[in-house]
Amino acid sequence: MKTAIKASNLSKHFGNIVAVDNINFSVHRGECFGLLGPNGAGKSSTIRMITCSSPLTSGQLMVHGLNVNNEQRSIKSHIGIVPQNDNLDPDLPVKQNLEVYARYYGLNKQLIRRRVEEQLEIFELSDRANSPIHSLSGGMRRRLLIARALLHNPSILILDEPTVGLDPQARHIVWRQLRQLTKNGVTQVLTTHYMDEAEQLCDRIIVINHGKILAEAKPQELIQQYVGNNVLEIPNFSNDIELLKRSLDFTIEYEIFGDKTNIYASDDNLSIISAKIETSSKGNLRKANLEDVFLRLTGRRLVE
Ligand SMILES: Nc1ncnc2c1ncn2[C@@H]1O[C@H](COP(=O)(O)OP(=O)(O)OP(=O)(O)O)[C@@H](O)[C@H]1O
Ligand SMILES: [Mg+2]
Repeated sequence: MKTAIKASNLSKHFGNIVAVDNINFSVHRGECFGLLGPNGAGKSSTIRMITCSSPLTSGQLMVHGLNVNNEQRSIKSHIGIVPQNDNLDPDLPVKQNLEVYARYYGLNKQLIRRRVEEQLEIFELSDRANSPIHSLSGGMRRRLLIARALLHNPSILILDEPTVGLDPQARHIVWRQLRQLTKNGVTQVLTTHYMDEAEQLCDRIIVINHGKILAEAKPQELIQQYVGNNVLEIPNFSNDIELLKRSLDFTIEYEIFGDKTNIYASDDNLSIISAKIETSSKGNLRKANLEDVFLRLTGRRLVE
């Protein structure tokens, strides 16, 4: 089976709110697949349907070749879940949090002991095995959540905002561990509103907004398709943009965000513009990224 997850005309409504609006996507086995979108885009709603935590309103959703509508138990044995909200048991120390969770999967005592030790080791938590949950840093809690999700050796790991609230160093530690999982062949589906996270980790992403898929491709392909190599970012330029446009013998596209104007054009044309404006404003030529893709697609920032 090459397809780990397949969503067909998938929708989720909450009363009048359409959280997921008739979307189609496939996650290939072994890839890291990202759902990228701003707050309220429908990422968690999609994830909760995949993890059998929330029923579909309509459409079809297959996970590991099984239908989420009627094979939930079996699906749950193949997937690991890292929820958006930390649901560790505050009354139990680190190790017992893992042991209790492993028992849900019916693993025998010996195997539980071995898997718990292994996961503590991999996620660099062995020296915290007996610590109470409240004494852990945010990064440690996230690592523990991921370790917990992997106890039963699932082939698919679903992560809802795996690094939200973490400092850059803690995020890098989580990224390193997720990359290792990719090397080990674990399929991953993650949501994020951090474009750099999607760029760093994901083989393919879908950009979603208001429950709809706006684009789907490899991160670099999306950047090339919607933005190009570079972006010229100029502060306090909104009053001058029309004048600049009239002075050029080629067309440009641009967006104005707050006090910044982003200009999109080929590298050659951006050089010409840079030379022209040098004296009046200080432009910053930088590499295009997924945030630009999102801005171009929606006129909004991912994190507002
Ligand atoms: N249980 C619920 N009841 C009613 N509305 C809900 C419920 N869960 C989500 N929604 C609504 O569905 C829409 C999508 O929410 P969802 O949680 O899927 O977004 P998200 O992309 O995960 O956002 P965030 O980045 O903030 O986590 C929002 O408008 C939200 O208010
Ligand atoms: Mg969410």
